[in-house]
Amino acid sequence: MKIALGADHGGLELKEMVKEYLIKGGYEVEDFGTHTKDSCDYPVYGQKVGESVSFGDCDRGIAICGTGLGISMAVNKVPGIRGALCTNEFMAAMSREHNNANVLVLGGRVLGVDLALRIVAVWLETEFLGERHQRRLDLITEIETKYLKS
Ligand code: RB5
Repeated sequence: MKIALGADHGGLELKEMVKEYLIKGGYEVEDFGTHTKDSCDYPVYGQKVGESVSFGDCDRGIAICGTGLGISMAVNKVPGIRGALCTNEFMAAMSREHNNANVLVLGGRVLGVDLALRIVAVWLETEFLGERHQRRLDLITEIETKYLKS
């Protein structure tokens, strides 16, 4: 599985730890930055992660900023993205089982590293349940389609 990774300066430190964890676990990683502690703009990295997943270059993505809030808003603007900001393992499991989240969003200034990596592990290992949940995702897609410019 190929994972797109992206973070602003507020998520950089956690991104590096997630990256190391993914590579050790045998995942292929595409790191869209940021690569320095310099202040930068989270929408840039949300868009890069979202597009790589939406275009099919990566299977899933992980996007990180300070709180997870801003990059969550940005990544969810990309059509086809279901980005889930998770602060615990239950949310990570539900975001896969019920929402088929294709991008996990984390807050680097909110989570300790151990918890963040447990969230990543659960999120990667949990499968979508389909059935009634697919119907609800189709309704989300209908909203998206209604507002897409041709
Ligand atoms: C950057 O200081 C911070 O605003 C950003 O990382 C994020 O938390 C925004 O939602």
